[in-house]
Amino acid sequence: MEFRHLGRSGLMVSEISYGNWITHGSQVEEDAARECVRAALDEGITTFDTADVYAGTKAEEVLGRALKGVRRESLEIFTKVYWPTGAGPNDRGLSRKHITESVHGSLRRLQTDYVDLYQAHRFDNETPLEETLKTFDDLVRQGKVLYVGVSEWNADQISQALKIADEMGFDRLVSNQPQYSMLWRVIEAEVVPLSEKEGLSQIVWSPIAQGVLTGKYLPGQPPPAGSRATDPAGGGFISRMLNDDVLTRVQNLKPIAADLGLSMAQLAVAWVLQNPNVASAIIGATKPEQVRDNVKASGVKLDAEVLKKIDDVLGPVVERDPAKTVSPEKRP
Ligand SMILES: NC(=O)c1ccc[n+]([C@@H]2O[C@H](COP(=O)([O-])OP(=O)(O)OC[C@H]3O[C@@H](n4cnc5c(N)ncnc54)[C@H](OP(=O)(O)O)[C@@H]3O)[C@@H](O)[C@H]2O)c1
Repeated sequence: MEFRHLGRSGLMVSEISYGNWITHGSQVEEDAARECVRAALDEGITTFDTADVYAGTKAEEVLGRALKGVRRESLEIFTKVYWPTGAGPNDRGLSRKHITESVHGSLRRLQTDYVDLYQAHRFDNETPLEETLKTFDDLVRQGKVLYVGVSEWNADQISQALKIADEMGFDRLVSNQPQYSMLWRVIEAEVVPLSEKEGLSQIVWSPIAQGVLTGKYLPGQPPPAGSRATDPAGGGFISRMLNDDVLTRVQNLKPIAADLGLSMAQLAVAWVLQNPNVASAIIGATKPEQVRDNVKASGVKLDAEVLKKIDDVLGPVVERDPAKTVSPEKRP
């Protein structure tokens, strides 16, 4: 496993990290969750990503139990705040009240005194940015959070935050967590150039497009049994990518992967890691063998000719519009 700096900070993260959205506390049983975490640790993954909202807070509990007994200094634990964790109007968003309450819940569920990275899961249009950033800064001073970042913020929102942090002397953002894969490249035009200039990294989610880039979803055929597309919680998220044009083009990537001696999942994870602004690719998994397959992408170099072949195969199904980075207008 290779390691990269998180933004301009001194923190190193494993370039492949393990995330538990959809899976822990929901799609997979606790035993399978533990086996995946064990496989991740055995393969050299040290960075783990979760969120208060995953599986209605159960995902953090499962991860906390799975990591219990592992030397804390050998782990980087990331979590997030924004999406609703309860029914009340203050159980969501980035207000001082919700952030403070949510981080305490996360620390309890994860069974740790601090998280390494705390991320604003979306931009909250109903809370002054100063309030959010001041609260994040306070958590850093209190030692409950070591670094702060955001997720799915656009370039303008990140710029606003950096300006306030610099003016007020608050801790600066070190990272953004966007969706990024061969199929979804909306950060490339604006977020990545800004981040490179300002010293933020991307920690990217769904690098294999939730399983689509493994090639296991075949055009014109029902999804394989037990896959995310058949899961009640996960099926809705993956469905927009399951159209025959996308799936046919993905099948045509198979010879490229085969020529390189890579599995399709390895090719997909290696592809996001070619972008030097990416500090880590967060992989999900329902089975330990998926973890063991995908981690072999660490350290793989893809040359310009391979990247061009991939672009030629995928053609117009690649999404590049920076306007597709959106946070809800109102808190959900
Ligand atoms: N910040 C955000 O808003 C946000 C949003 C989404 C995710 N995330 C983070 O990113 C993490 C990863 O997201 P993701 O789970 O969508 O990532 P992903 O790695 O693109 O997809 C993972 C899923 O693909 C399937 N898969 C993985 N490896 C495979 C292999 N080798 N062969 C066949 N199938 C394979 C598995 O599902 P099946 O076995 O069920 O098919 C697995 O659960 C999350 O856990 C979370 O930490 C963040």
